[in-house]
Amino acid sequence: MERLQKYLAHAGIGSRRSCEKLILEGKIKVNGKVVTTLGTKIDPLQDIVEVNNQVIGKKEKKIYVLLNKPAGYVTTLKDPQGRPTVKELVKDLNIRIYPVGRLDYATEGLLLLTNDGQLSYRLTHPRYKIPKTYEVLVQGNPSKSALEKLKKGIVLEDGLTQPALIKILKQWKNKTLIQITIYEGRNRQVRRMFQAINHPVLYLKRVQEGSLRLGKLAKGEYRFLTEEEVKRLKKEVGLSD
Ligand code: URA
Repeated sequence: MERLQKYLAHAGIGSRRSCEKLILEGKIKVNGKVVTTLGTKIDPLQDIVEVNNQVIGKKEKKIYVLLNKPAGYVTTLKDPQGRPTVKELVKDLNIRIYPVGRLDYATEGLLLLTNDGQLSYRLTHPRYKIPKTYEVLVQGNPSKSALEKLKKGIVLEDGLTQPALIKILKQWKNKTLIQITIYEGRNRQVRRMFQAINHPVLYLKRVQEGSLRLGKLAKGEYRFLTEEEVKRLKKEVGLSD
């Protein structure tokens, strides 16, 4: 709920003071009825506000969905090759939402979908340096010095990568489970980084983006972010409410 004069001012009708004047003069209608009481509260997503009998912009409700993407889905809304898309996993939501960034066809894990273009842009633009953490199973046992290269930055065909955080989670005779955090999101970046040290990726899952964690969400399932999570994410990319 929002105070009417604040809503009008944000909609670009005028200053807070001049909007108060319009209300007192009886020039504002809410849901077809003239409102002259300052401090009247409206729901910007539901109520229809008119100024001099002209409806002013109804805001689109912002939706934030966290999906645990399974392998075998493309991160687009439509695939020219006819492969399954992440849209099919959220199809019971009757609103257009778009994936934030991209996970490869074979990659699993945290994928945010939203109609909040500003947040999406900032989460994916390297300027905002949002950390993205992955669990990656690689072939063989990378040496300390090989992992050091990834930590410092390694030259790929599209240039030097930013420093990364790396932690070995588990090791077997011929494979290793590693946690890696990167601060950019180039195409197939994690796969290419490990390929560059000759330890191809066998399995890749994103577990965290900014402060947002995948947690125990089952594969193929989604949930709405909590208000708290949205607030925190916005803060991390320098957006205020
Ligand atoms: N890095 C990759 O290589 N693939 C992804 O899907 C995400 C990050």
